[in-house]
Amino acid sequence: MKSGYLRTASTFVQGAQTLAQRYYSSPALLDEEIEQLFRRRWMWVGRSDELPNAGDYLLFEKFGESVVVTRTKRGGVTAFYNVCRHRGTRMCGEPRGTFSETIQCPYHAWTYSASDGRLIGAPHMNEVEGFSRDDFGLHAASVHEWEGWIFVSLSRQPIAFEDAMAPVLTTFSRFNLAALRRVERRTYDIRANWKLILQNYNECLHCPTIHPELSRVLPYTSGANDLFEGEFLGGYMEILEPNESATLGGKACGVPIGDLPDDDRRRAYYYSLFPNMMLSIHPDYVNYYSVWPVREDRSIVVTEWMQHPDSLAGGYSPQSAIDFWDLTNRQDWHICEQGQLGIASRVYEPGPYSPRESIPAAWDRAYLSAMGHPGSSNAS
Ligand code: FES
Ligand SMILES: [Fe+2]
Repeated sequence: MKSGYLRTASTFVQGAQTLAQRYYSSPALLDEEIEQLFRRRWMWVGRSDELPNAGDYLLFEKFGESVVVTRTKRGGVTAFYNVCRHRGTRMCGEPRGTFSETIQCPYHAWTYSASDGRLIGAPHMNEVEGFSRDDFGLHAASVHEWEGWIFVSLSRQPIAFEDAMAPVLTTFSRFNLAALRRVERRTYDIRANWKLILQNYNECLHCPTIHPELSRVLPYTSGANDLFEGEFLGGYMEILEPNESATLGGKACGVPIGDLPDDDRRRAYYYSLFPNMMLSIHPDYVNYYSVWPVREDRSIVVTEWMQHPDSLAGGYSPQSAIDFWDLTNRQDWHICEQGQLGIASRVYEPGPYSPRESIPAAWDRAYLSAMGHPGSSNAS
């Protein structure tokens, strides 16, 4: 057996309980989350193949910031805050595009190199005593490519990406993710706190009741977790024969995503990557989600599906996988919204997790620890 998918049972902490109400209903708590989590962590912003050529850019706009992520001439990526060093103007408004060598502010035409953010033109500033263009390059943001995704950190001193992602840095390498191509993107607006969506993703105790279609393909008692404590959590479920994949109808919708061992051809892997990414790996396609808080009771989920390029060339359609998850996700969003409504009640108090919810309980522990609230944990 390969390392990387150990069949280790999950640990369940007796007495684990759900989070207190304020974690779902307090605007101040959300501000604290943005400060403690989202502005400090690496966040998914897009796919590497969205920037195929030098000068191509995308904007990452969250939490009051706008960051320009561009492909450099050398083939890497670089990122700058979309803030002119002259009088602070946001320079670039189009969410996607291509720079021809330079970024020019539309206000007074300060001009920056698109590949390294250097200030290269500033009208009349040569008449200012002591002014040096070298002092006014664009503010850099940290950016990193991994498994075909682009991640950005808004932290001035981020933890090195390799350190932040150490537990999963090579976990997914056998799935060939960097070579896969996006075939669909959908965005959902959900009336629920972002954490409810992560917690819900991390257990299948609800599957028999909420997901009759999914339960015919993925029995909720099958499989095992291989990451069951910390910021990266999840494991696999067995695809019930004669189903070949998690699709409407159960047929594979493409060629295998990579040169997979036999076990992986009969499994679906589900992982949450702290804080806000969820990754679902199936034999013939991969889908993933980023979950973004908008308010304490509202979230946006961006989700994409990917397949091997040969699936596209071979005339396969990903539609049965898209439809399967669109249906399943809507079932999930609805029950998360019902959770948000119930938790807002004055009678709500933390409830007990079952051993089948060991992963959301572990997620809550990681969350409280990252927030610096370990004393609030009911899971002791
Ligand atoms: S604010 Fe950008 S050039 Fe003046
Ligand atoms: Fe679900």
